Amino acid sequence: MKKIPWQEQILMIPGPTPVSSQALLAGAQPMMNHRSSDFKKMMEEIESGLKQVFQTQSPVMVLTTSGTGAMEACIVNLLSPGDKVLACPTGVFGERFAKMAKAYGADVEVLETQLGYGLDPEKLRTRLKQDARKEIKAILITHNETSTGVENDLKALSSARGDHPALMLVDSVSALGASELKMDAWKLDAVASASQKALMAPPGLGFVAFSDKAWEAAKSAKMPKFYFDLTMAREFQIKGETPFTPALPVLYALQVSLRNLIEEGIEASFERHKKMAELIQNALTAMGLKLFAHPTYRSKTLTTIEAPAGIEVKKLRELMKNQYGIVTAGGQGSLTDKIFRIGHMGCVREKELIYTILSLGKVLQELGFQAKTEEALKIFVKTLTPTHS
Ligand SMILES: Cc1ncc(COP(=O)(O)O)c(C=O)c1O
Repeated sequence: MKKIPWQEQILMIPGPTPVSSQALLAGAQPMMNHRSSDFKKMMEEIESGLKQVFQTQSPVMVLTTSGTGAMEACIVNLLSPGDKVLACPTGVFGERFAKMAKAYGADVEVLETQLGYGLDPEKLRTRLKQDARKEIKAILITHNETSTGVENDLKALSSARGDHPALMLVDSVSALGASELKMDAWKLDAVASASQKALMAPPGLGFVAFSDKAWEAAKSAKMPKFYFDLTMAREFQIKGETPFTPALPVLYALQVSLRNLIEEGIEASFERHKKMAELIQNALTAMGLKLFAHPTYRSKTLTTIEAPAGIEVKKLRELMKNQYGIVTAGGQGSLTDKIFRIGHMGCVREKELIYTILSLGKVLQELGFQAKTEEALKIFVKTLTPTHS
């Protein structure tokens, strides 16, 4: 059988996500001088769009880096070596946030949560109440934990701080634009995200916004930094520039994808992602599969599925890719070989979900699992509504 070229495969991984041809073509434009009025104009539009997505009045810094770089920028600009940090991992990406703080010399305490669950706001409240001397300087939270398919209740977690002054640092790399995040209203102090997930642009850009309280903390933060010095980045951004040469093609594409997102409406995007998640999660369950994340915390941007007994994740993913051109993700960390993951954010629509379900059903059948694919398809028959009028 002819191999399906990667360009024709459908990316159903939780990032990078598919990019519209309109945004891809924008990325193919000539390079521009990044110290020019044209660049300034483009950056002003991008920052204004990002502010709407972050739901903040604070500046949103645009960095040429990946999501991890944006997270690192939060740590190094807000903390000093020896600072007490409460890391609240719910999976691999939360653990990365903790490791990063530790690498820069923070005194990191880990508040554990069972994999597949979100952090219980009561647990956070209790821990902060015990901190009578208010030594904890920052709390590290993952909005949407991509390794387990879990979404944390950011609003409840932020308000669980009560009058504790700890800064809340949020990794919203795999949720921003797809799931509600009200940076100002929910009093989040630092939010990090990236271009390649729900923001529907290629990889290469990281975004960071700080609250006024965080900018104040930045004045005395002593962790070493140079490339990620956000005070310097902000000075340049005010002039409509970046300190260093930015990833221009990604900016061109982002400008288009942000326009599309704003035209759709941020609330409409949240609704659409909620619907996509419900559709695929209901369909997978109807098929006879077990989802990994607890129903209360299920992500709106990706779904984690337990491998049925006797089914090898690697083989299943290989067959889906080679026979049907559907690219899925495997498990990470301790969940390697135990789960597989399907991304459904950004440009992904019903047609991709239906084809994913069909090909998954076929492959499972081939591997000896009696998938109830017809039951799964009934979910779409019931819910499919016109996307155009
Ligand atoms: C929740 C979360 N945080 C951080 C990252 C890291 O982002 P990047 O790979 O862009 O550095 C990812 C990437 O998948 C993620 O899903």
